[in-house]
Order: sequence, then structure tokens, then C-alpha cells
Amino acid sequence: MKILLLLSILSYSVAEIHKSDDVDLLKNGLTELLTTGVAPQYFKDVAKRHQLDLSFSKPPSLMGLSAIDTCDLCGKFVNVVMTMRHIIPEFILKNTIVGACEELKIEANRVCSGVIDPQLDVIFYILKNGKDVKAEKFCTLLLGSSCHNEFDYFNWTIDIPPKPSKLPEKIASRSSKNIRILQVSDLHYDPRYTAGSSAACGEPLCCQDDQGAASDPNDACGIWGDYRNADTSRKVLDEALRHMSTQEVDYVYFTGDIISHRVWSTSEAKNLETEREVLDLLRNTFNVPVLFVLGNHEPHPVNMYAPEEIKTNGLSTKWLFDILAEELKGLISENALKTSEKGGFYTLTLRPGFRVVVLNNNVCGKDNLWLAYDSFDPYGQLTWLVQVLEEAERNGEYVHILHHIPSGHHSCLGTWSREFVKIINRFSETINGQFNGHTHWDEFFLYFDESDPSKATNVAFNGASLTTYSSNNPSYKIYDIDPQNYKVVNFEEWTFNLTAANLQPEKPTVDWYKLYSFRETYGVSSMEPKEINELLTRMIKDKSLLQIYHKYKFRMGSDGYCNDDCHKSNLCRIVTSNVADSYHCDEIMRKYDEQNKLT
Ligand SMILES: *[C@@H]1O[C@H](CO)[C@@H](O)[C@H](O)[C@H]1NC(C)=O
Ligand SMILES: *[C@@H]1O[C@H](CO)[C@@H](O)[C@H](O)[C@H]1NC(C)=O
Ligand SMILES: [Zn+2]
Ligand SMILES: [Zn+2]
Repeated sequence: MKILLLLSILSYSVAEIHKSDDVDLLKNGLTELLTTGVAPQYFKDVAKRHQLDLSFSKPPSLMGLSAIDTCDLCGKFVNVVMTMRHIIPEFILKNTIVGACEELKIEANRVCSGVIDPQLDVIFYILKNGKDVKAEKFCTLLLGSSCHNEFDYFNWTIDIPPKPSKLPEKIASRSSKNIRILQVSDLHYDPRYTAGSSAACGEPLCCQDDQGAASDPNDACGIWGDYRNADTSRKVLDEALRHMSTQEVDYVYFTGDIISHRVWSTSEAKNLETEREVLDLLRNTFNVPVLFVLGNHEPHPVNMYAPEEIKTNGLSTKWLFDILAEELKGLISENALKTSEKGGFYTLTLRPGFRVVVLNNNVCGKDNLWLAYDSFDPYGQLTWLVQVLEEAERNGEYVHILHHIPSGHHSCLGTWSREFVKIINRFSETINGQFNGHTHWDEFFLYFDESDPSKATNVAFNGASLTTYSSNNPSYKIYDIDPQNYKVVNFEEWTFNLTAANLQPEKPTVDWYKLYSFRETYGVSSMEPKEINELLTRMIKDKSLLQIYHKYKFRMGSDGYCNDDCHKSNLCRIVTSNVADSYHCDEIMRKYDEQNKLT
């Protein structure tokens, strides 16, 4: 999901080079290439010798390079760019950097230029206009705390009012019938999906109309999709909407990511057209309110949510906020339209006493390079969130919060994550449900009290994904919600078997089935944070539960094998909602080791 851009690519590209003199050659070669515009022969030789062919998405920790080397190279590289910007025209600098990506065979040439070119526009703007821009700041965003302490550059707080000694009474609900909510996430609609083309294409997204037919039948993209790097065709989208609309639900939550992973050929005009098409489709398919959340894939270039003050054409994200507001007209108030237009977030009441807050939390993502320009509470969104929650508390409302990126996701800026968790905990009696997406996995996340780490305060459910990208069976969820307090009572997950579907290409539809329902599968009597926390204790002792969790994570799309490290990683994800705090992850891994005698 994570598209790293050139700086990290170039930094990572030395990853497989263990001989330090080669690292030096590469560093010097890069500097020379950037200074002269010509790749020296020794640089080409190093690149060739190591056949650098690294995927965009590998985290640096998986590669052999030491963190210090990577960090060092990144810093050097940004500094060279900062200096050169004053000496040679930007377009030459751009061509050279794209050339370096091509030379190193980091990606196919068109992917190098398609991804790097527009991202460089953002970088150049920040270098030119940003206050206090340092190479270290960029490299911290790109490489994380292994490079520099993130909090040295990104550390801010939001004012949160204290809890009143007595909470106002909640508005009584007159309904006794469970509310049903359908959650669909991460559509990644791919208008160019072509059955029969190659699913082993060597680019970030395969099955494209311009990638040629598969030479090996095993590599042919299926009629209903592919488990490899492939997104959702129109055929699958239509079939999913057909099936979802047969479900009886009261509301639909769509938790973001409409645009495909063809990240090298996005544009404002193309994205705008696709956004409009899909949002219209969602709105018109269901005859109930559909709440839209923005994902990190909506903007052009991918991940880049520009601050409000950036008005420059091609850099501003205003067009996206405008289309969101347009699609929400009639559903939300004039006031709510204002915040949608400002930063892609809004609030509305679905019925008396039941409020939904939709956030654009893609601004927490470190892939969003605008954070190097200004990271402080982008769009004033968290400050606004506190005000909305305070008012909801005063008015006796319950709240659901929708956002795209789970707050404990490794791509989220630590300070954003920490402040968000503080807000959730302060208002945990008011917030009775959180729903997110982005990971494409069926998973959930627990929030814990800061002063009493044994106390779970909130749960966020991930909507998994409609896209298969990657190893997933397409899916959506239906939640049963208590009509009195709007807590999640249970959910069921719906999916189809992609392998089986592709074996019957003549069938006009696929066989959707209910994969499982949560309470029955995990044997819990409620979905309260406390009960889910106790479930974790049982999971540590019962590997069969952990195996089930892992298989359902992909909706049975992967072979499902999970070893100890894999179980530990799944558990760690569940208990991490504040990315800046590893306490709960460390604890649960320790308990797992203890239980399984691994220490
Ligand atoms: C963030 O800044 C605050 C206030 O200056 C400081 O007390 C705190 O230690 C900093 N956090 C980190 C993780 O460095
Ligand atoms: C999916 O279908 C294939 C082909 O019929 C079958 O081999 C496989 O076991 C099925 N997987 C699941 C999880 O049902
Ligand atoms: Zn996604
Ligand atoms: Zn996403």
C-alpha cells in the first residue's frame, strides 16, 4: 500500500549492497549524477553488478542495509538536491533523478517517471517555500525513527479539556430494533483491468490493458481478479454492488481508497473523473445514507494532502475536497459542507442521539510529504474533533468515528497518533464505535487507558477490502448495532472464493457467502473493549483461535500458514493504536513467548 518515493527508493536501493566500498561508489555516483547530469560509468557498473530491482513497497528493515547507511545516504541526497536546485533548472534536476531511478532499475522506466515526477513538484515547492526545511526532516519522514528521532522534528499537542465530574445524560433512543451498517473499504477501482493479461508484470499494478497478454497461462489475470498485484475491475465492482444491495441495511460506511494502484499514471483530471464515477455509483446503489471517507489514494500524486494555504494548481488538494462536498450535498448540513471543502472531514447526526464523525486522517501518513512543510494538526482537524466531541458529550450523543488509516499504523506520524489516542480516551464514554480501512485486512484494534494500561477503552474495526490487492478474497462487512447505545453487537463478513469464481468464467455472478460472524467464531458475549481484551488473553493460549484470525485476515485468500512470529505480529497490531507507544505490543509478545515457552 505504501508507495515510497524517490528519496527512500534511492536510499533503499543500496540495500542489497553489503560491501561498503560499493555503498560509497553509489553515494558518490549519485552525487556526481546529480551535479553533472551524467551517470558516471562506475555508478552504472555498481547498479548493474547488483541488478537493483527493488519493489517500492518493501520497508527498509527487511533489506540488508544498515540504518545508518540508509539515513546517511538519504541526508546526503536531499542536501545535494537542495544545493543543486539553485544551480541547475528544475526540469534538468528532475530528469536526472528520474534517470537515477531508471539507471538503478528500481522500477520500470514509466513507473520511475510517473511516480517521481509529480512528487518532485511537491518536494521542490517545500524546499523553496517551507520554513525550517532540513534534510533530516525529510529523511525522518521517509525512513522513520531509525534515521533520526521523529519527535525531534514532529512533536506537538492538542488542548483537550478535562472530563467533567458528572457526564450529562445520554439522549434516550426510542428504537429497539438493531441497526445494521454495511462497511465496504478499499475499492481500488481499476478501469483498465484486463482478464488474460499478465499478473506477473513487474510493475506495482498488474493486469493492465497495456502490459501485454500473459505468456504463461498460470500468469493470466482471471476473469474475476487475481491474488497478485491486481485491483477491482468494473465487472467485480458491479457484482459486489449488486450483492451488497440485496442486504438490508440502514447505513453504509465506505472507508476510503477509490483509485487503483496504478500510481504512476494518476492525474488530477483522471482521479476526479473516477472519484465522481464511483461516488455516484455508491450513492445511487443504496437507498440509505452512504458516508464517504477519503483514502490516501484519492489525491494526485498519491498520499499528498496539501495544506489549505497551498493554492497552486497541480499541488492543491482543493479539487478533491470540492468533489467530496458535492457528493455529500443533501446528506450533511451547510456547516459540515464547509469542513468537507476545507479538509475532507465532516460530522452529521444519523438519528437523534447518534452522531458520526468522518475524518480525513490521511494527513497522519508519513508518505504525505507535506508534513515536512507543516505537520501541526493539518486543517485544524483534531482541534475540531475535540470541539465536536465536547459538544456531543454535552448534548448526550453517542459517536461513531470513521477514518481511513488505523491510528496505530506504522505509517502514521507518532505525534498525530498519540494525540488522537488521547482524544479517544478522553471521550471513550461517548465514542462507541470506530471504523477504518487502508490495510486491506480483516482486523481490529484496541485502545488502552494511558494511566491504567490494563483497561481497554475502545475498539476500531477494519473493513478489510473489496480489492484483492494482495492475497485477499474481496469482502465487505455488516455490523449489528445496539439501537440504545450504538455499540457494535456483532458483525458478519461476506466474501467469495476467487479461485473458484475464476474456474467458472461463464457464470455471470459469483457465489458470495458469509465467511463468519465474530461473536460465534470467537466465543465472546459482547464486543465491548473489555471483552475483546479478554479474548486476546484466550487467543495467546489457544493457537487455533490465532490461526482462524490469520485465515480470516485474508478472507481465506492466502494459504493461511502462520508461525510464531506471524502470530506475534498479528497480536502486536491489534494492541497498537498509538504508534508512539510500544508498551502493549512488547507486553503481548512477552506473554505469548511465556505461554509458548519461547524464552
Ligand atoms: C515532546 O515535547 C514535549 C514538550 O516539549 C516534551 O515534554 C516531550 O518529551 C516530547 N516528546 C518526545 C517523545 O520527545
Ligand atoms: C476455493 O476454491 C478452490 C477451487 O474450487 C478450492 O480448491 C479451495 O479450497 C477453495 N477455498 C476455500 C477457502 O474454500
Ligand atoms: Zn487501500
Ligand atoms: Zn489506503
